[in-house]
Amino acid sequence: MKHLYLIGNMGSGKTTIGKQVAESLHLPFYDMDALIEQASGLTIPEIFAQGGEAQFRELESALLRAIIQNPAGVVATGGGVVLSETNRALMRQSGWVVYLKASPRTLWQRLQHAQNRPLLKTPNPYETLETIVRTREPLYQEADWMLEVDTLSPAQATDAVRRVYHPTPDDPLAVQVLPHQPSGYTVFVAPALRNRAAHLIAQQCRFTRAALLTHPALLRWAEPIQAAMQSLDIPVQTTTLRSGERVKSLRSAERLYTQLLQAGLDRSGLLLVLGGGVLGDLGGFVAATYMRGIPYVQIPTTLLAQVDSSVGGKVAVDLPQGKNLVGAFHQPALVLIDPELLQTLPTRHWRNGFAEMLKYGIALHKGLWRRLQAMLQAGVLTPRRVRKDLGMWTLPIAQCVNLKAQIVSEDEREVSGKRVLLNFGHTVGHALEAALHYRDWLHGEAIAAGMIAEAELGNILGVTPDEVVRELYETVAQAGLPTALPSGVDAETLLNAMRHDKKRTGDALNVVLLTDIGKARLEPNIPLSVMREALKRCGAS
Ligand SMILES: NC(=O)c1ccc[n+]([C@@H]2O[C@H](COP(=O)([O-])OP(=O)(O)OC[C@H]3O[C@@H](n4cnc5c(N)ncnc54)[C@H](O)[C@@H]3O)[C@@H](O)[C@H]2O)c1
Repeated sequence: MKHLYLIGNMGSGKTTIGKQVAESLHLPFYDMDALIEQASGLTIPEIFAQGGEAQFRELESALLRAIIQNPAGVVATGGGVVLSETNRALMRQSGWVVYLKASPRTLWQRLQHAQNRPLLKTPNPYETLETIVRTREPLYQEADWMLEVDTLSPAQATDAVRRVYHPTPDDPLAVQVLPHQPSGYTVFVAPALRNRAAHLIAQQCRFTRAALLTHPALLRWAEPIQAAMQSLDIPVQTTTLRSGERVKSLRSAERLYTQLLQAGLDRSGLLLVLGGGVLGDLGGFVAATYMRGIPYVQIPTTLLAQVDSSVGGKVAVDLPQGKNLVGAFHQPALVLIDPELLQTLPTRHWRNGFAEMLKYGIALHKGLWRRLQAMLQAGVLTPRRVRKDLGMWTLPIAQCVNLKAQIVSEDEREVSGKRVLLNFGHTVGHALEAALHYRDWLHGEAIAAGMIAEAELGNILGVTPDEVVRELYETVAQAGLPTALPSGVDAETLLNAMRHDKKRTGDALNVVLLTDIGKARLEPNIPLSVMREALKRCGAS
């Protein structure tokens, strides 16, 4: 069990909410400001008056180190705790960090009459507050989870924080994708959620009968769900397909159409997909096209599918010429993520999914990147083994889902330039998969090497700093993922495979490049010669 650190500006409700969360979870509560006052025998304004802010920060760091030794509990931190990189690292190593975000207006309403806020003792305290909020925001954004509290009552905020720390099948974490849109839906995340799957599906989806698509190896998970649905009077027919990228084909789709017809599924039917990214993409494609489109539900069973492919509605099959060349945007009606389903997943596939998590971190979110590095440092994933301790995995999985949900909600069809950022590592990664005929390397492994090659590309173009490239190499290697292209693959084969890249224009490539840790942009018109040089740096002949 880890600590739960609440961070946020003064007045964001850390103490009130922290106390209530601790009570509801029967955990100890640590209020850092109160503990500092207790230990020093001085009020916070007095500490500031006597020793200045620097002394207060020192006391804060010392207290944080002491709290870490105590039994896991809820910690209401001081607003400035994030100013120290050491404090941010200490919190990350020993617990989960949740940011209670409130606007300056909300904070001001709560603080304008407070006497115990030394930082606001200035000629224009509102302006001072705005400046503090603005300058600290990037540091708060490094949290594992952010909760906007402006419109939440303390009770609602307490419930929301509890769900982040301790999601359960009855009270799962819920992430909205495309809110307020007809195609919008919820992704629920909680260990053991499969036990409520039938109930949630019946509650959230409109249909008369269902087909369940899965792998033969996953029948042990599928059968109880089928039985639970039948006990709710929902007829379900289960269909199994072999696994592997080669299943993601038009031939498999045709077989599935036939099976759905035989199962009597009409336009009021629902397709339930219990499987990894291959079945999710294929099942989603079939759902998008069968009878001009039926709803489908994703219950992803690989780490890769949980953090990435089950959310966002990109569904497709491959052609011999390349990946995902026939497809659609068809959002699922519901996604149910149960990290317990990963218990049977082979280590190599955990690593495969971890590659996509690293992509989210390095391209989109510095805090997630640091969290993944902390997981590696703690030995959660080593080149030899994985610790399947769900306490370590559930929140990072949910954070990836949350990032994807935000991006898809902003740019569902990949037109505004936002969603394309999720393709970091994929221009080279997809070409590599095609060059290897979808054998030998898994998708995530190809993406890992693709990220390295695209970081080198950015470096050659002067976009990606040296230290970012170095950090990426080190972290990818620490995860036991490839940092070089496989021997025997030559640059011309890869460049040729990139002919079908959907981001390509004419003879130049448009590639997502890193500008910093957690930041990326689409760089247009990259000459093939520069890509060739990057591929050679990564071992292509
Ligand atoms: N649609 C998207 O946005 C998107 C995003 C990323 C990747 N993808 C696609 O996802 C696909 C890769 O998905 P994947 O890596 O999940 O591969 P996969 O679906 O082939 O699953 C990997 C293997 O794990 C097995 N498996 C699945 N769940 C298991 C479990 N719980 N226990 C034991 N074994 C289990 C499967 O039978 C299979 O052999 C690629 O085709 C890729 O292009 C799509």
